[in-house]
Amino acid sequence: MEEAIEHLETGREDYGLIVFESRGSSKTLVRAVIELSKRAAVIVCGTDERVVSDFNGSEMPVVFLPLDSVQDDLSKTVKSLELSGKIPLFQESESEYLGIRADLLPTLGVLQADVFMLILDGRYVPIFKKGDRITEADVRHFLEKVPGQTFYFRKSECGEVLQSRIQRLESALQEIPINTAKVEQVITENFGIVRDVVSQIGFTPEAQRVAVNSVLLTIKMLGASPKLKSILSDLKESGGGYIPSHSIYLGKVACALAHKVGWRSQSTYFKLSLAAFLHDISLKEDRLAEVSNLEQFEKSGSGLPEEIREIRVHPARSAEYARQFQEIPSEVEQIVAQHHERPDGSGFPRGLVVRYFTPLSALFVIAQDLIEYGNTANELTFEHFFEEKGLEYNVGIFRKLARAIQTDTTLI
Ligand SMILES: [Fe+2]
Ligand SMILES: [Fe+2]
Repeated sequence: MEEAIEHLETGREDYGLIVFESRGSSKTLVRAVIELSKRAAVIVCGTDERVVSDFNGSEMPVVFLPLDSVQDDLSKTVKSLELSGKIPLFQESESEYLGIRADLLPTLGVLQADVFMLILDGRYVPIFKKGDRITEADVRHFLEKVPGQTFYFRKSECGEVLQSRIQRLESALQEIPINTAKVEQVITENFGIVRDVVSQIGFTPEAQRVAVNSVLLTIKMLGASPKLKSILSDLKESGGGYIPSHSIYLGKVACALAHKVGWRSQSTYFKLSLAAFLHDISLKEDRLAEVSNLEQFEKSGSGLPEEIREIRVHPARSAEYARQFQEIPSEVEQIVAQHHERPDGSGFPRGLVVRYFTPLSALFVIAQDLIEYGNTANELTFEHFFEEKGLEYNVGIFRKLARAIQTDTTLI
């Protein structure tokens, strides 16, 4: 509250509406804020209406809202103030804003852009300023009042936010010795932010840079000889949700398999890791990324028709994002588009049979199968895995890869 008073005393902004919480503040402080608000309308959210009693019947538009009804009544109150002409209409076009998941905000460090909340259709209220640092407690505080998982940036400021992610990666890298867990966490957070940006405004050049830098760093940390065994033993989700950690983990497993079959160039690792980063990026919900057998999922009745459709189209949609990248090999797009196809033609969305798989797509599918097997089997053994997949893998490029992987016993 003291900060708000200082800001109103020294700031030059002209506000149309000021909303604040009075809980825990004295009547004198509340009074000071209201008086300093000049011509702005004021909504005081609190537990004791007496804090605004001095302003009853005054010219100033001062409204009290009990804290427990803020969620239901704040937007109605704003609307009625607008309709009565006491505050200007500040409806802005939704297309100017970009939603970002609440849990990502504390990972942003010092904010490079103002953060807004949507309190009513088209009404965005700034709640954090450029230069602030948001804590998890801050986010919880706001979500208690207006539940929902989304905060907003102006699209025009999105470049600065992404730029700060690249700096964050660079500074995590400069620590000596490199703190691997921390770097991985930054990469996972980057995934989350890139996903939110891409789903709303596509792969901007800055979003591409964050994705490419994150992928290059993952490869760098894998080293020249990625060891499948140690990667697989690291299987557990590393925070940040299923899709981010799964996508980064899949890249590592695919690179380790590529190493086993003798494809050991940096460009192969890059294609596989970038494809892994992108493959499920168009899915909104983690739960949907865990479905590998769409037919079974459909029959189980556990998905809504629109969810089934979303799963069915996500390989093509994610491939579409891959196409927006400048200067990436077309194989990345193919791997992404084919990641749910199966060698026997039972996959989706196209039901391609084995001869249509590129070698890297086939390897990518095996990497996914191996992860799925690792998630369900009690003890992971290569022999058992290939025994299980024996028939299905006994065709074309899958047979060649399965043999090569099993022949090389040096790294598992
Ligand atoms: Fe996936
Ligand atoms: Fe997928």
